[in-house]
Amino acid sequence: MAALLVTGGAGYVGSHTVRELLERDEHVVILDDLSAGHVVAAGGAEIVRADLAGPNIARSLDEVLGRESFDAVLHFGAKAYVGESVEDPEKYYRNNVGGGLELISAMVRHGVPALIFSSTCATYGNPERVPIAEDHPQRPINPYGRTKLVFEWALQDFEVARGIRHVNLRYFNACGAHERGDLGEDHRPENHLIPIACEAAMGKRAHLSIFGDDYDTPDGTCIRDYIHVQDLAVAHVQALEHLRGGGASASFNLGTGMGHSVLEVIDAVERVSGKEVPREVAPRRSGDPPRLVATSEKIRRVFGWEPRFPSLERIVETAWAFKEHFPDGYPND
Ligand code: UD1
Repeated sequence: MAALLVTGGAGYVGSHTVRELLERDEHVVILDDLSAGHVVAAGGAEIVRADLAGPNIARSLDEVLGRESFDAVLHFGAKAYVGESVEDPEKYYRNNVGGGLELISAMVRHGVPALIFSSTCATYGNPERVPIAEDHPQRPINPYGRTKLVFEWALQDFEVARGIRHVNLRYFNACGAHERGDLGEDHRPENHLIPIACEAAMGKRAHLSIFGDDYDTPDGTCIRDYIHVQDLAVAHVQALEHLRGGGASASFNLGTGMGHSVLEVIDAVERVSGKEVPREVAPRRSGDPPRLVATSEKIRRVFGWEPRFPSLERIVETAWAFKEHFPDGYPND
């Protein structure tokens, strides 16, 4: 079987997908600069340490792709902080657009025919309709979302010109940890709701800031569609099978179709942990739409995808178990 290149395979969603692939006896080579990834999360797969936006990336990609036959790339390697993208758009365009382009060019040079892309609900911007379907207009409202959309466009254009087929997976709110408790979310700094709520419950933070409680939602806090990271990982495997089987390029939302408010998430963390989550109401965070919920009807229909972790309680249980396993994050690597 041909090999798979996984950019960002030591990161959060990448590492869970790598585990899923290794369990299916796939031959995986990870390309990661380890700026956000962790060696221990890579499951023993080979890691080629390279920065997609670095000066030597074309040579690194040529070395890897030139040494054996690859039939697909899973492209997770990207910068993914919305706030940082507003402050430092250059970093986002260089990595997510420039780095992505280096990757596509190398695929063209080495005849790699297929790519699975970690896209995002942030490409939709402020939704006109909820739940959001794949044909909803894509009008991102921050540089992060714009760089992800530009890469979706690049993939469309390179399919026409060079025949590279692709699947865009537009994640809603990736969360949770592997059910075995040894893989999970370790961003530094952490800015995602569930791990922050867990850290507040553990006493590792003085409190959690609720970014706005005066939205036009039932309890006044923002609603998101939280999707478990293993359910994301399985969708990547299904997308890979689809492309290997000659399937056409396509885009799919990845969410459960259920929305949960910030307060509901906090309640779930309190129930699961048996501890209080100290919280304070803070001003709204700029660029936060009140309600983002997917319809995932398309991926269910086309791939037969079905979330194994649809309940928020179960998702939080896995996140909490990982935090208990590694209270200070992954051991140094
Ligand atoms: C965002 C992006 C998503 C992207 C992800 C990557 C949007 C709309 N969504 O998710 O596409 O893949 O970042 O980083 O741009 N919250 C608090 N207090 C906190 C932290 C969060 O109240 O300390 C709230 C937020 O306001 C939000 C919810 O919790 O309503 C989830 O926030 P977060 O986990 O940061 O994810 P998003 O911003 O929704």
